[in-house]
Amino acid sequence: MIALNQNFQNLPGNYLFAKISQEVNNFRLQHPDRILVDLGIGDVRGPLAPAVIEAMKEAVDEMSNASTFRGYGPYGGYDFLVEAIIKNDYTDRGIKIDAADVFVSDGSKSDSGNIGDIFSAQCAIAVCDPVYPVYVDANVMAGRTGRYDPETGRWSDILTLPCDASTGFLPRIPSENDGAPFKGIIYLCFPNNPTGVAAGREHLTEWVRYARETGSIIIYDAAYEAFIREDVPHSIYEIEGARECAIEMKSFSKTAGFTGVRCGYTVIPAALQIDGVRVRDLWARRQSTKFNGVSYVTQRAAEAVYSPEGKVQIRQTIDACMQNAKLLREGFADCGYEVYGGVNAPYIWIRTPNEKKSWEYFDYLLNKAAIVVTPGAGFGAAGEGYFRAAAFGSREHSEEAIERIKQL
Ligand code: MLT
Repeated sequence: MIALNQNFQNLPGNYLFAKISQEVNNFRLQHPDRILVDLGIGDVRGPLAPAVIEAMKEAVDEMSNASTFRGYGPYGGYDFLVEAIIKNDYTDRGIKIDAADVFVSDGSKSDSGNIGDIFSAQCAIAVCDPVYPVYVDANVMAGRTGRYDPETGRWSDILTLPCDASTGFLPRIPSENDGAPFKGIIYLCFPNNPTGVAAGREHLTEWVRYARETGSIIIYDAAYEAFIREDVPHSIYEIEGARECAIEMKSFSKTAGFTGVRCGYTVIPAALQIDGVRVRDLWARRQSTKFNGVSYVTQRAAEAVYSPEGKVQIRQTIDACMQNAKLLREGFADCGYEVYGGVNAPYIWIRTPNEKKSWEYFDYLLNKAAIVVTPGAGFGAAGEGYFRAAAFGSREHSEEAIERIKQL
């Protein structure tokens, strides 16, 4: 017999950013003369840092010579990159991570979507709302989410952790009303996509305590860690006890402009075990079976992100992005909008005026001002009435956006 995975039929609509891209393409076709200001998808504008380019060129040269050519690489990543990751992202922060805990990959989107492979289809899931849609969609595909209610925008088998202005967009620990104690997989993303808020030490400590008490696992997406400006944790492993209950994912996509190059990594400490089985062993088995690693050239490029010149160059790009975030945050606020985030992340989370629906306001900004944003409702029911602005464009680009907003 042959049958399709029926879970895919449960997905309500397209992937959020594919849908937006479709809408924007339609707009371009209808209005070829209008110049768009794109604050939508969080895509970097390049170019790559000179240190990264140099490393890639050298690696390409190595590939052109039989004596230095590389074929299949180690499944978890080349030692040179794994060592650079451990030293710079962990040891220098006082965190002990072993080489076997690190799995180099093609990015956090793939890892956060694929990690479900190693958990049972019966595992319970908890996600924030609003949420990066990959966590939900990947679990829908795996059949863990139950029925979708179009009225509420909620799934019967997902514990939703609403994040709103009253808690600074931080998820509350599940209470008895949520059917607590919840035991399952808890997805957390800080600094957060889409709200742009960061979680402090105290908040993360509460989650680690909760996960340990209930036997839950936190999947901690730290893709935006490099944008942190305040004194908040860069890694969940800064919190005591997290090694026994958390998986961490990081990405070079936004940090170093790798959205098209593709490289990131996942950390699963040996101490994270379920019924005496090391979770990292299952991920190693999964990756070696379904994934042949990231190209040598890309891993050399990622290694260069940690070189002294690379660090300086990348810091400059991130600083420029965060100046844009400030400009957008203050610009929208000056125009009377209620704004959040944008201090430790390249995203600004903005309430729509006059309680307009997110998609309605998306259409309004697109048609009236040729500005693309991401409708908050695309990130979940609690995102309704908000939109997200990304700060990856040039300074002129952000200034132009605010000019157009002022003219509305
Ligand atoms: C975002 O803009 O939130 C992401 O970069 C889009 C994606 O990863 O699909």
